[in-house]
Amino acid sequence: MPAAGLGTRFLPATKATPKEMLPVVDKPAIQYVVEEAVTAGLSDVLMVTGRNKRPLEDHFDRNYELEQVLRDKGDAAKLARVEESSDLATMHYVRQGDPRGLGHAVLCAAPHVGDQPFAVLLGDDLIDPRDPLLARMIEVQEQYGGSVIALLEVDPDHIHLYGAAAARPTGDDDVVHVSDLVEKPSAEEAPSNLAIIGRYVLDPGVFEVLRKTRPGRGGEIQLTDALQALASDESLGGPVHGVVFKGRRYDTGDRGDYLRAIVRLACEREDLGPDFRAWLRSYVTEEM
Ligand code: UTP
Repeated sequence: MPAAGLGTRFLPATKATPKEMLPVVDKPAIQYVVEEAVTAGLSDVLMVTGRNKRPLEDHFDRNYELEQVLRDKGDAAKLARVEESSDLATMHYVRQGDPRGLGHAVLCAAPHVGDQPFAVLLGDDLIDPRDPLLARMIEVQEQYGGSVIALLEVDPDHIHLYGAAAARPTGDDDVVHVSDLVEKPSAEEAPSNLAIIGRYVLDPGVFEVLRKTRPGRGGEIQLTDALQALASDESLGGPVHGVVFKGRRYDTGDRGDYLRAIVRLACEREDLGPDFRAWLRSYVTEEM
C-alpha cells in the first residue's frame, strides 16, 4: 500500500499528517483499505511510507495506555474499536525517501514481495465492502496469469484525470484484455473511457520494468508507464487484463469526493445514519 505521496490537494490538513490518515466518518481512510485486503485473503501488508509515517505505524500498533484507560472504565465497545486496527493484519513498513512517484513507491516493495504476484491498493480509493473488487481481481489473475488492473467507466470529460486503457473483450463479461495504457490523456487522445482505479494485482516482472522506467508525466516514475510496457510486450510479465468494476467507489484523494464519501457512508451507518439522514434532509430542503 503506497502511502508516501505528499497529498498536496489536502493542504494544510496533510502538512503533518499523511492523507491516508484523514478520517472517513470515524476511521482513517487507510483502515478501510487494510480491511479490504484482509477480506480478500491478504493479511501480509507492506506500507510504503514517507516523511510522516508515525501516525500510520501508530494506528496499526497497540496503544497500551489508551487500552488500559478504557479497560479501567469498563468501556468494552471503545476498547474493541481501539484494538481492531492493531489486530487486523501483519503490518510491515518501508520508507520511500523521496516521493518519486507511484511507480517508484511500488518498486520499494520489491525486496518484500519477492517472486510472486502481489496486490497494490491505493489509500485514496475506497471500494465499498459490499462490492468486492480485489477478490475478483485475484481470481482473474489466477485464471489468466500476468497482471490485472481495475477499470471504471468514466464520463469522457473526466478521463484526463486518470490513466486510460485500450481494451478488447474476453469470454468473461467483466474482464477485458488490455493492449495499451495512457496516463492522464486528453479526451481526444484517450483510447477509451475505461479509467484505471487504485487496485492492481501484478506480476513481479513489473519490478524489472520499473527499474528501467524513466520519470514520465510530472517528473515522476509512473506505474501506468510500467504497466503500459507490460501490456505491449507479454514476454516481460505475461498479459495485462482489466476487471471492469461496476460497484461503489469513493475517490478520497479529491476533496469533493472525500466529502461525498463521508456523507454517503455516514447515511448508511446504523448508529449514525437515522439522525444524520434526518438532519441532511432538512438541511437540503430548508437551507439550500
Ligand atoms: P497521488 O498522486 O494521488 O498522491 O498518488 P499525492 O501525490 O499524495 O496526492 P496530491 O495530488 O499531491 O494530493 C496516488 C497514491 O500513490 C502514493 C500516494 O500516497 C497515493 O496513495 N504515492 C504517490 C506514493 O506512495 N509515493 C509517491 O511518490 C507518489
